[in-house]
Order: sequence, then C-alpha cells, then structure tokens
Amino acid sequence: MSTATRTNTGAPRLPAARGPFSAAVLTALHRPPPTHLSPPPLDVPADPWGEDAQLALYVCYELHYRGFADVDDAWEWSPPLLALRGRLERAFLAALRREVGEPPPLEAVLADLLAEPPDGDGPSHHLLTAGTRQQAREYLAHRSTYHLKEADPQMWAVPRLPHPAKAALVALQYDEYGAGRPERAHAELFAAMMADFGLDPAYGRYLDVVPAPALAVVNTMSLFGLHRSLRAALVGQFAALEITSPPGAARLAAAFERLGGSPRGTLFYREHVLADAVHEQLVRHTVIEPLLAGPADCPAAEIAFGALAYSLAEDRFADHLLTAWRSGTCSLRAPLPAEPAAPDQPDQPGLPDQSDRPDQSDRPDRLHGPAGRPPLPPEGAPR
Ligand SMILES: [Fe+2]
Ligand SMILES: [Fe+2]
Repeated sequence: MSTATRTNTGAPRLPAARGPFSAAVLTALHRPPPTHLSPPPLDVPADPWGEDAQLALYVCYELHYRGFADVDDAWEWSPPLLALRGRLERAFLAALRREVGEPPPLEAVLADLLAEPPDGDGPSHHLLTAGTRQQAREYLAHRSTYHLKEADPQMWAVPRLPHPAKAALVALQYDEYGAGRPERAHAELFAAMMADFGLDPAYGRYLDVVPAPALAVVNTMSLFGLHRSLRAALVGQFAALEITSPPGAARLAAAFERLGGSPRGTLFYREHVLADAVHEQLVRHTVIEPLLAGPADCPAAEIAFGALAYSLAEDRFADHLLTAWRSGTCSLRAPLPAEPAAPDQPDQPGLPDQSDRPDQSDRPDRLHGPAGRPPLPPEGAPR
C-alpha cells in the first residue's frame, strides 16, 4: 500500500483535540497511515457521549465522507484506525442500546413519533417564541455538521436493502439531492440559509465549536450507516428523521423569518414542511412495509431501536441547547464571530420565495426557479 500523502484541498482541516483519545487520533492522522497493525494505545473514554469520544468518532467517520485537507485519504481504510474506531463504536452502541432499552413494538414507536405533542417545548419552539438571531445562528452552526451532507449517511443503506425497498429509498433520496437539479439539493439550500444568517457555509467550517451532543446526532447516523449489521437501525433512524421533520421545520421557518431571514434564509425549512410530509409517508409505506413483508433480515425491533436511538440523541442535543439558551449562555464551544454588517448587495443571487413558486406539479418537494450558491461572508478562519 502506498504511503504517499495525498492532498484533499476541498475538505476542511482537522479540528483541535478535546481529550487524550481524540488527541491520539488527530496526531496520528497528521502522519501517513501505517501499513501494519498495532494495538490501540489508549483506553476508550469513559463517557461515550463526551467531547473526547464524540469528536474522535466524528473525525474517523468524516474520512468516509469528505475527509480532511491535511489527512492522507488512505487513512480511511487503515486497519489500526478502524480497530480504534471499532472500540469507540462498541462503547457508543452499547450506550445507545442500554439507554433505549427493549424497544416497544415498531407500530407504537412510529405512532408516537407521528403524534406532535401539544405541549412541546423543544429548540424550535424556543426559537419561534423567544430565540434571538444569535441563537438561530448557533443552531445553524450545530446543524451544519449534518445538513451540509444531508442524506449522505442514509445512502449507505442503498446497497444493503432488497428490492423494492431499495428502489423506494433511492426515489426518496433523489429528492434530497435536488431531484435532478444539483443547486436544489437540500445541502445547498442549507448552505444558502447559513450565508443569509452571516455564517460561512464551507463544509466543516464550524466543527471546532460544535459540542458533543450535536456531534452525537450525526455520529448515530454514521454508525448505523457504515455497518451493514445495523442497516435496519438506519432505516429506523431515517424514518424518525422524516416523520418528525415537518412540524419542526414549520416552526423553524417561521422562527427564522421572525429573526430576519430573507426568503433564501427560510427556504430550507419551508421546503422540508412539504418534502418531509411526503417522505415520511414514503419511508413508512414504501421502505419499511416491504422490508417487514419480505425476508426477515430487517427486524421490526431493530428498526424501532434505530428510531429510538436517534430520538435519544436528538433529545440530548435539545436538552443541551435549551439549558444553554435558558441560562443566557452560548450553546457552542466558543461564540461565533460577530455577524457581518448587512452588505449592500441588491443583486445578490437568491432563491425565490416559496409563495412565488409557479408549479408544485407532481412532486411536492421539487423546487423551481433559479438558484446559486452565495459568496462566502467575510468571516475569518476558525483556527
Ligand atoms: Fe431534506
Ligand atoms: Fe426528507
């Protein structure tokens, strides 16, 4: 195996360590990958939800997505690193299984997710009724760790599912990637929203300041996605995401508009009110139902576990946000740079307001009209 260093200039740079385990991983990644197996040098962090463990896991997983500009791509399949990652994963998966417990029947889990609680008080409620623009910016920075690669973790399921669930999943994912219009991919809409709120939409830009509870949400998806043995859990995670998205997206669209978002700064969430109302139906009726009717290689209990594990990670993230915001503190590991002053940019390319959309046609979540990735705001590098 070649040890020649390969550059990956389109990717972010490695973040700073958050403890001895992540420090060992990050130090190693700065070197060429080894060609021989060696025993992992450290004990796994005691807290699988903690900063050290979650950052190390996130960095290991990121090698399977965009990688890092300062890391040799060959690290992706380095046996020593995979062994190290495996120890982190086993600890994290054990924590998820322990905290989820024995899942209720899948029908009950899905019904519970479909029922919007009348007394909800999560982050979207807070942002709608009491949130500040700075808190909205924090929320986007947290979520950028997933939404700038939206739908990618679930693509790992495609080769692992039988037909017809496979075909249904691909049809659904086609929408996530823009339904044939790359500029309409949901990740691109999220990038446009970040720019509208004075954030840098470059991939990985805020990883250094995103804390463990937000990383754990993404790591749950990647854990399920990268292990064929967890494919049923990934289906459950996807179902939970799509089912719970529309009401939260509606609140966030209204919240971001209240906090000064332009049409391009709310389109991502407005789009998901429509799209995920369809997607949650598709994932339940065209992905899960055929899986349950077919050979028993995607057990209902494991789909339920995936949905509940993802909900658990989301609940922990929500608790983190609300604890910080209600105490008047920043929810990130460091405050965001100040938002640039409103520029004079009357002709900046933007996305049309959804109310102007001329045609919803046959696919409710297909978008129309011109779009373009906005220029980066004048914000300094994080390191
Ligand atoms: Fe989406
Ligand atoms: Fe969706």
